[in-house]
Amino acid sequence: MKTQTKYICSECGYESSKWLGRCPACSSWESMVEERVQKGGRGRTPPPRGEVRKIQEVRSLGERRFKSGIGEFDRVLGGGVVEGSLILIGGDPGIGKSTLVLQVMERLAQSNVKILYVSGEESQEQIKLRGDRLGVSSENLFLLSESNLEGIFAEIETLKPDIVVVDSIQTVYHADLVSAPGSVGQVRECGGEIMRYGKGRGVAFFLIGHVTKEGAIAGPRILEHLVDTVLYLEGDRHHQYRILRGVKNRFGSTHEIGVFEMLEKGLIEVKNPSEVFLSERRNGVPGSVVVCTIEGTRPLLVEIQALVTPARYGIPQRVTTGTDSRRLAMLLAVLEKRVGLHVGSSDVFTNVVGGLKVDEPGVDLGLLISIVSSFKNRPIGAEVAVMGEVGLGGEIRGIGQIDMRIREAERLGFARCLISKNNLRGLNHHSPKRRSSNSIEVIGAESVEKALDLLL
Ligand code: TYD
Ligand code: MG
Repeated sequence: MKTQTKYICSECGYESSKWLGRCPACSSWESMVEERVQKGGRGRTPPPRGEVRKIQEVRSLGERRFKSGIGEFDRVLGGGVVEGSLILIGGDPGIGKSTLVLQVMERLAQSNVKILYVSGEESQEQIKLRGDRLGVSSENLFLLSESNLEGIFAEIETLKPDIVVVDSIQTVYHADLVSAPGSVGQVRECGGEIMRYGKGRGVAFFLIGHVTKEGAIAGPRILEHLVDTVLYLEGDRHHQYRILRGVKNRFGSTHEIGVFEMLEKGLIEVKNPSEVFLSERRNGVPGSVVVCTIEGTRPLLVEIQALVTPARYGIPQRVTTGTDSRRLAMLLAVLEKRVGLHVGSSDVFTNVVGGLKVDEPGVDLGLLISIVSSFKNRPIGAEVAVMGEVGLGGEIRGIGQIDMRIREAERLGFARCLISKNNLRGLNHHSPKRRSSNSIEVIGAESVEKALDLLL
C-alpha cells in the first residue's frame, strides 16, 4: 500500500498537492492541513452495486415529519424533522448549539419520538446537569458518551431510535483512519458513513459542528454538500439573541430564519421578531430608517442605521455591518452621480440593528435614505417604513412580496410606507398615486430624488 500526502483546506475541503498559505477556493488563510491517504486502501472491498429501477417502482417516501412544537425551529426546517434526513447545525463554540438541540429533542421525545443523544464532548452527567436547567426529563431521550463511530452504530442497532444527535461531528472518529478526530479526513469520512447508515435505515441524524478558526480542526462547511439540510446558529455571544439560519434545505425553503433569546432556562423562541428588533429604536435620530426584508417566507422589520462624518484621517472609511459592502459602494456612487450629494470625503458606517444580516436588494432604498439622513443630520419620521431596490440610474425598482411587507409594517403600527411606483401600480389599479389599505398610507416614488424629497 502506498501512502501519499495531500493538503486539504479545513474550511471548505479544497485539495492540493502542495501546501498553500491561502486557500484558492475560499480565501481562508493558513487553513491547509496535511492528510495522509493510503492508496489502494479503499480498493479491497468491491464497490457496492446500485440497483436500477423504474421511477414508478420506487416507493414514495411519505415525507414523515417530526414536529418539535418549537415553531421557530420547525419552520426553519420546513415544517419539522424529515424522517431519515441528515441535518448539520453549525456555529461558533459556546453559541448555544447543544442547548438548542437538547431542548428540541426533549420536545420531540415528549411526543413519543425516540431520541439518542451522543456526545463526544461531555459526559452523561454533564449533559444531565444542563438538562436539569432546561427541564429535560423525557423517558424517550437516551444519552450516550461515545466517539467511536462503530460503537455509536452498535448502540443505534440495539436502541433503534428515530433521531440521533451527534455532538459534535468533530469528536467522532472512524477506527480505520489514521488521522485524529476533527481532521478533514475523519470529519468527511464519518459524515459520509453516517449519511449512508442513516439513509439505509431511515434514522434522522443531527450533526453538530463547531465553526473553528484553527486549521487543525475541520469546519462544518466541508460537510455542507453531503447533508440534506444546513443550519447555522448565529449571534453575538454578548447579546441575548440567536438566529438559526437555514443555508440549504432539500425539504423546504432556504433562507428561513428562526429567532431565539438566550435566557437562564435556555433558548426561548421569539415569535415576534420585528417587535424585538425595533424595541430599542429611538425616534428622531438622524440616520435611522426602518426597512422590511423577507427572510424565507416571513417579513421582518429591521432598523438600519447610518453614521456619516467628515473623514479626518486619510482615506475615507466605509464600514458595513449586516449588509453587503459592495451594495453600499454602489449606493454611494448613485448618491454622487444622480443626487449630487458629495459623500466621497466622508466616513460612512452602516449597521443593521440586532445582529441580523440582510442581503436582499429590497433594503437598498432604506440604506440610501439612512445615509442621506445622517449626512444632512435630519431625521425621517418615526412612522415611516421604506422598501425598494435602487438601480444604477437612481430609479427605484419594484420588489417581490410587497403586500406582505406592507402588512407587516401596518401590523406594527407604521403610518406610512414608501415603495417603488411600479409596486404601487401592482397594488391598486384605480389610483396610481396613493393607496390606503386600512390604516397605512402607501406612497410610491419612481426615483431616489423623489423619495428624498418626500422624506427629507
Ligand atoms: P452551549 O449549548 O454549550 O454551546 P455550544 O454547544 O454551541 O458550544 O451553550 C453555551 C452557553 O449558553 C454558555 O455560555 C451558557 C449559555 N447558557 C445559558 O445562558 N442558559 C442556559 O440555560 C444554558 C443551558 C446555557
Ligand atoms: Mg456543545
